[in-house]
Amino acid sequence: MPAIPIRCAHFRACKSGLVFACDLICPKAGFGQGSPRLDHFLYRDGALFAEDVPVAEIAAAVGTPFYVYSTATLKRHFALFDDALAWGDHLVCFAMKSLSNQAVIKVLGDAGAGMDVVSAGEYLRAKAAGIPGEKIVFSGVGKTAEEMRLAITGGIRQFNIESEPEMIVLDQVAQSLGAVVPVTIRVNPDVDAKTHAKIATGKSENKFGIPISRAREVYAMAGKMAGLKVVGVDVHIGSQLTDLAPFEAAYNKVAELTEQLRADGHEITRLDLGGGLGIPYARSNEAPPLPSDYGALIQRTVGHLGCEIEIEPGRLISGNAGLMVSKVIYVKSGEDREFLILDGAMNDLIRPAMYEAWHDIVPVIEPAPGVEPAKYDIVGPICESGDTFAKAREMPPVGVDDLVAFRSAGAYGAVMSSEYNSRPLIPEVLVDGDQFAVIRARPTYEEMIARDTMPEWLS
Ligand code: LLP
Repeated sequence: MPAIPIRCAHFRACKSGLVFACDLICPKAGFGQGSPRLDHFLYRDGALFAEDVPVAEIAAAVGTPFYVYSTATLKRHFALFDDALAWGDHLVCFAMKSLSNQAVIKVLGDAGAGMDVVSAGEYLRAKAAGIPGEKIVFSGVGKTAEEMRLAITGGIRQFNIESEPEMIVLDQVAQSLGAVVPVTIRVNPDVDAKTHAKIATGKSENKFGIPISRAREVYAMAGKMAGLKVVGVDVHIGSQLTDLAPFEAAYNKVAELTEQLRADGHEITRLDLGGGLGIPYARSNEAPPLPSDYGALIQRTVGHLGCEIEIEPGRLISGNAGLMVSKVIYVKSGEDREFLILDGAMNDLIRPAMYEAWHDIVPVIEPAPGVEPAKYDIVGPICESGDTFAKAREMPPVGVDDLVAFRSAGAYGAVMSSEYNSRPLIPEVLVDGDQFAVIRARPTYEEMIARDTMPEWLS
């Protein structure tokens, strides 16, 4: 697919009038090939914008905290992957677990994306957003018979099987429906993804997939099952990988296995190579590999097999396409530090508490050039010390009622939020050019409370 021209969100400020295309660099925009950040959240006229909309205008309309996503960034990131695989047959299946709002799914679906789902809920969301079954891949270690039935009946591109017991159940469900379902088997290549332990999946100690050493045996079983049609091999080794070497090790193993399986008589026409390409969370000092390098690596390692390639990226498409915007409630002086107490909390964005994750946190009003940074412990109002977004973080000074934006919050942000401390889920907003819309409203307190029901014996 050719690069989609996207107007550079910075074009007014840089006055170059440049049209920003996926593979071009606007030298003023601060993003493009080799640049650390690929998004459309830039300062313009002294204030942070989401594409052509001032972030403060959205805050005034929906209240804080909230998530905001950029359509242009979502499309751009999808196109980067699509272009990176343009050398052959492929389908980029967005990992919906990273961001599953239906409006986002619609944007990506319209751009040509398939979806990678891991639950009946995600499957139904994808369908509701207009994604046809033949573009939906069903992953996940614990699919229930009910979920299998739902997806077979509604239409599915393939199931990625993760264990023998699951394979047996899928075969039974398919046969009971008179169906023959396309399957891949997820192999665990025992490769160290060199990422956070909680999101590494490709080592033998992890719960995912079938050990690659046993793959031929399991494929032989699958080949005899009347409800299954083996179409390919699946692998996913982890998330937020910032080095291509573990991918290379895993994909070489998949290539070798594919040749063995073909020799065993299986028709392997599809390779699902998972997701996991990392993004720069700390703008200043991270430069993970580009999708184009990743695509070239795929071509180098498995391209000769002539298979259709599927990938399941989540974070790289949605991560830098979203901000979480929050307001400073108090600035509190501790004994040896200052606390910035925000109205957003760990229930809204759990990544720092759960993975010690770094998110750049920036003021929505552009800091004056050369301003001396302040140092804060940035925290939410929840009653536990884990509700800390950053410790001793240097950032431009801000005060009460100022807005701050958490960058790179599009992936695993809203989807992992909860109502802990009875804090209603925060709204999600989608921007496209100069327009924005609420794509999930903040529930009222009444709506939140009304979901509880009182047993008769207590009323
Ligand atoms: N495919 C499979 C089978 C996966 O398990 C995952 C992510 C993906 C694709 C997408 O990976 P991505 O391209 O987004 O890295 N909550 C954690 C991340 C969990 C990732 C789980 N699996 C976080 O906030 O960092």
